[in-house]
Amino acid sequence: MKTYRVAAIPGDGIGIEVVEAGLLVLEALAERDGGFALDIERFDWGSERYRRSGALMPADGVERLRGFDAILFGAVGAPDLPDHLTLWGLRLAICQPLDQFANVRPTRILPGITSPLRGVSPGDLDWVIVRENSEGEYAGQGGRSHRGLPEEVATEVAIFTRAGVERIMRYAFQLAQSRPRKLLTVVTKSNAQRYGLVLWDEIAQEVAADFPDVTWDKMLVDAMTVRMTLKPGSLDTIVATNLHADILSDLAAALAGSIGIAPTANINPTGRAPSMFEPIHGSAFDITGKGIANPVGTFWSAAMMLDHLGEQGAAALLMQAIERVTADPALHTPDLGGTARTEDVTRAAIEAIRGRND
Ligand code: NAI
Ligand code: MG
Repeated sequence: MKTYRVAAIPGDGIGIEVVEAGLLVLEALAERDGGFALDIERFDWGSERYRRSGALMPADGVERLRGFDAILFGAVGAPDLPDHLTLWGLRLAICQPLDQFANVRPTRILPGITSPLRGVSPGDLDWVIVRENSEGEYAGQGGRSHRGLPEEVATEVAIFTRAGVERIMRYAFQLAQSRPRKLLTVVTKSNAQRYGLVLWDEIAQEVAADFPDVTWDKMLVDAMTVRMTLKPGSLDTIVATNLHADILSDLAAALAGSIGIAPTANINPTGRAPSMFEPIHGSAFDITGKGIANPVGTFWSAAMMLDHLGEQGAAALLMQAIERVTADPALHTPDLGGTARTEDVTRAAIEAIRGRND
C-alpha cells in the first residue's frame, strides 16, 4: 500500500479550524479507499511562533518540507502583525523556494449554492484560473529610501522573465487542452504596461502555435472583470499574472457563492519539490474560534491534493461528498446564509465518504 507523507501547516485563525476538519476528511477517505495511507505531520508554524521566537517558521523549514509528498496549508495573518510580514514570512517563504510556480484555482457553482449573479446557474460558471506564482508583481523587488521624509520614495518592481512567462503559459495551454472546451483566455494589461505584459502577449502567441486545438483569446484585466460578471459562460481556463489573477480569483470565488468554498493548488509541475494545497481565504479573524468557518474550501483543496498525488478515485469520492454537503441547505455555514457549524459540515462529509449503506 502506498503511504503519502503530508505536511499540515494550519497557520493562523480559522486556518487551524479548517485544516483540522480537512485532515479528518482525508483520514476517512484513506480508510474507505483502502489503497493508500496518509502519514501526516503537523507543523505549528505561524504568527504565534513569530511572537514566541521572532520567526514564523524555522530557518530550515523549507528543507524539512522537501521530503514530503504534499503540503496542506491553512492561512496566515494576525490582527496584531503586518500582513506583508506574515505573508512573506510563511506562505511566500514556502511557495518561492519550492518553486510552486503555478497557482491553480478552479471555480464552479456547486450544487445548492446560489451565485450572487442574477440568473446564473451551476453549468454557467466553470472556470480554472491559472495564476503565475513566482514572479511578476510579487517578485519581491523594490525598496524604500528617505523614510519619513517628504521626499520618501518606494519602488515595487514587477519582474517578467521569458522563462517564467513561458512556463506558466505552457502550463495554462496544457490545462485548457485537458478540459472539454479547450478554451483559454490570456489576461494582461498590455495597453498600459507596455514592457512586461507585451512580453506576455508575445509569448502567448508563440506557445499557442504548439496547441492548435486550443481556442484562445486575450483580455485586458479591467475588461475581464466585466466579462466575468456579465458573460461568465464565455470563459473556461484563464491565465494571468500574479497580481491580476490574485484579484480575479477573489472575484471568481465571490461569484461562485462564497470565498469559504474556493480552493487553490500551488503546483511545482516538475515534481522536484512538493506542491501545496490551501483554501483561498485568509485567517478570518472576525470568525476565528466561533466554530463556523466553512471547511469546504479546504476539502476541495484536499481533493486537488489527492488528484495531484495520483489518487483520482479518492479525489472524485471527496468531490461527491462535497457536493452532497453543499446541496443540503441545512449544512450551509453562515457565509452561505445558513446556521451550520464547521463540525456539522465535516461530520456530514465524512458520512458521505463512508457511505451510509455500507
Ligand atoms: P479573509 O479571507 O480572511 O476573510 C474575508 C471575509 O471572508 C471575512 O469576513 C471572513 O469571515 C470571510 N471568510 C473567509 N473564509 C471563510 C470561511 N472559510 N468560512 C466563512 N467565512 C469566511 O480575508 P481578510 O479578512 O482580508 O484577511 C484576514 C487575514 O488573512 C489577513 O491577515 C490577511 O493577510 C490573511 N490572508 C491570508 C491568506 C493566506 O494565508 N493565503 C489569504 C488571504 C488573506
Ligand atoms: Mg488573494
